[in-house]
Amino acid sequence: MTYEFPKDFLWGAAASSHQIEGYNKWNDWWKCEEAGLLSERSGRACAHYGLYKNDFQLAKELGHNAHRLSLEWSRLEKTEGSWDGPEWQHYRDVVKTLSDLGIEPIVTLNHFTMPLWFAEKGGWKNKDAPRIFARFAVKALEELGEIVKYWIPINEPYILAFLGHLYGKWPPFEKDLASTLLVMRNLIKAHSLAYKDMRYHRISGTVKRPIIGIAHAVTAFHPCRARSIADMAASHLRNSFYNHSFAASAIKGRLLLPFIRNEQLAAKGTVDFVGLNYYFRQFIRYSHPFPKKIYPLGDVCDLKHHKDSGPITDMGWEIYPKGLYEVVRNFDRYKLPLMITENGIGTLDDSLRTTYIKEHLLWLARAVQDGSNVIGYLHWSLMDNYEWADGYSKRFGLVGIDYPTLKRTIRSSAEYYRSVIRSGLIQD
Ligand code: FCB
Repeated sequence: MTYEFPKDFLWGAAASSHQIEGYNKWNDWWKCEEAGLLSERSGRACAHYGLYKNDFQLAKELGHNAHRLSLEWSRLEKTEGSWDGPEWQHYRDVVKTLSDLGIEPIVTLNHFTMPLWFAEKGGWKNKDAPRIFARFAVKALEELGEIVKYWIPINEPYILAFLGHLYGKWPPFEKDLASTLLVMRNLIKAHSLAYKDMRYHRISGTVKRPIIGIAHAVTAFHPCRARSIADMAASHLRNSFYNHSFAASAIKGRLLLPFIRNEQLAAKGTVDFVGLNYYFRQFIRYSHPFPKKIYPLGDVCDLKHHKDSGPITDMGWEIYPKGLYEVVRNFDRYKLPLMITENGIGTLDDSLRTTYIKEHLLWLARAVQDGSNVIGYLHWSLMDNYEWADGYSKRFGLVGIDYPTLKRTIRSSAEYYRSVIRSGLIQD
């Protein structure tokens, strides 16, 4: 059967500043990398800061009509309160280059890293953090809003809170539930303040009315034992908590977490589109009475021991293409446009990447056919990059990078993706 994507579909790739630009030395990650707290240093990365024109030309050749990038806040405000003119000019050139090539820029304002001065003031735990961030958001709109229409204030807010403050894997390497809750509270507040200030702030007439969304990490949660009611309940709770709590607050002002009541209520109506970052499935097993993870959300089962598990990538993530269909259908409830803001595979085997793209796009097309309002698909990532705590060994790019020479090589998976973009069709 042949499926058709909508005519004005946004097709492209996603990336983030710290993972590709190089020498982002004014942020918290850089500092921790230098201190030896992470497995690898980002260093010059893909030197995209200087090579962006070349990279966007490649995106154009690959048929992309959209590109998700992030602004490196730490470059733009190296010390608190003083904007860096040449850096703003740099990002104006970046988005103009995209737009001149016919590629729609989709701009994330915060993709995990933060300016050092902001981190030193307590980062997302500081009670003023939302206000400080919203001021940056308005400035970005003033500077880039003539060209940029689509905005995402914060990438994967809860991943940031959990990995940095609960699991201790990312800066600032905390393992503290109270801090995690505080960060969650400030992130929802930062998102909603940024939305309101960008939307209702009076800016010059040439600035486009911003369309503002979230980029939400979503997982396909399944019960570990298919017939266990307890596992079903734990898996369902995980879905509500991880996949929906931030979205439900920002869209409906719905309460999920009583301790951040006011922030959730105030966030109502602060999303114009929902971005979904989908990578994998997890099997959830109810655990009683003292679960290792957060009670009562159950434990994640070891994939190796699960009979239904599909192939596992270099990241240890299960390849489960149908999960994209499941999460998309699950988010239809908000009746807002959906955008796949990330989906991709870390692998050295590019033929596996081709299959991955094909199968995920097939399930996405089925969701569209069944009525989901999906407006775009952005593959993670345009090129290989610095995969946070995992460093450079994980290869997510449609374009391969030879790090010693910085040579870019288009992979055949990128050519396959281009063929789908060109025809707007996919067959099973
Ligand atoms: C997402 C991040 C992105 C990248 C991919 C693999 O969670 O947003 O920066 O690391 O995972």
